[in-house]
Amino acid sequence: EAGDAAAGEKEFRKCKACHMIQSPEGEDVVKGGAVGPNLYGVMGRPAGSQEGYNYSDALIALKDSGEVWTPEDLAAYITDPNKFVQEKTGDSSARTKMTFKLNKGQADIAAYLASASPA
Ligand code: HEM
Repeated sequence: EAGDAAAGEKEFRKCKACHMIQSPEGEDVVKGGAVGPNLYGVMGRPAGSQEGYNYSDALIALKDSGEVWTPEDLAAYITDPNKFVQEKTGDSSARTKMTFKLNKGQADIAAYLASASPA
């Protein structure tokens, strides 16, 4: 179901310790950390494809599986990153570098990311 982007904007404070949203022109949509990849334009983009970011083998395998981020898949990923990648790649030993899990409001964050970061 469709999420609420305004609610997702508030929820995104849980993500910004590790993620910024910065346009290619250097505009900070959200100032945040660089532990995780820049999430500008993430919706509709192949997984594991942010230029210059050093992804885990798990995220590279996810990209190689053909994964492209949709609202549904991004919501499932942030609910349990390892489980999502393991199911998508069929590799039960896959481990992402994202240790954070979100247990509510996932669809709202997906709607926010789609609106805040046009691909
Ligand atoms: C990767 C979203 C919170 C660290 C990712 C990716 C997404 C995402 C969509 C994959 C990006 C891509 O394929 O380019 C989110 C959202 C969060 C959140 C929406 C909040 C609900 C966090 C937090 C941390 C973190 C709090 C750090 C404690 C990482 C790291 C990766 C990653 C290290 C790279 C994973 C790898 O290479 O295995 N995140 N994240 N994230 N995130 Fe997050």
